[in-house]
Amino acid sequence: IHNVIFGSSQEGSIIVAHEIAELIKEKAASNKPCVLGLATGSSPVKVYEELVRMHNEEGLSFANVVTFNLDEYYPMDKDNIQSYFYFMHEHLFNHVDILPENINIPNGTVKSEDLHQYCIAYENKIKDLGGLDFQLLGIGRTGHIGFNEPGSHFNSATRNITLDYITRVDAASSFLGIDNVPRKAITMGVGTVRSAKRIVLLGWGINKAEVLRETIEGEITSQVPATYLQEHHNTTFVLDEGASSELT
Ligand code: F6R
Repeated sequence: IHNVIFGSSQEGSIIVAHEIAELIKEKAASNKPCVLGLATGSSPVKVYEELVRMHNEEGLSFANVVTFNLDEYYPMDKDNIQSYFYFMHEHLFNHVDILPENINIPNGTVKSEDLHQYCIAYENKIKDLGGLDFQLLGIGRTGHIGFNEPGSHFNSATRNITLDYITRVDAASSFLGIDNVPRKAITMGVGTVRSAKRIVLLGWGINKAEVLRETIEGEITSQVPATYLQEHHNTTFVLDEGASSELT
């Protein structure tokens, strides 16, 4: 893996958005879909802002873009403002020309008896499109990518998981208390993420410094699932000074 350190999350986000825009245009020029794996949370917000700006001011079109979001709380209604469905529409999809049928976000309303089949279908849909061309990631303090919490297998696929306590603590403020944070989620697996042709992980701020040190410099372990990225041949960690402050 490869690290790039920027003076601010703003600068790093603009570079990442430009890489995504180039990929979209390159695929469009050869009439191909551009298959993007997307993340929610605070880390990618400025990347989406820049993509929306490029759509508005530079004519960047999302007509050939197909997206797969990493995860969704379970259970979770789409119209709930805490949902990742809501987040993605608010930050990106409502502001660009992506076709609604090209948006894929794990559905937090699937009945529990249908979940297993639903997750297999989500995984197959990605494979049928030729896999993810680009995967955008954030990282949780537990070392999760997507919601692959400690203990996740490196070959795991899309599935229903139990959120780690620390992850629920970190989400508590946006849910107005930990008791309101769902205990479960649907997430793409580590295997799903690792199959992406290109991965960019965003890490901003001193809160992420410790887990990023373990992820980048520690030994590969299921206890810090992000360490599995060390074995991916085309991953870049895009960090700011705070997030990189514990690296040797
Ligand atoms: C979100 C996701 C999570 C977040 C991580 C960091 O779709 O999959 O892995 O990327 O929890 O969250 P923030 O960016 O809010 O610090």
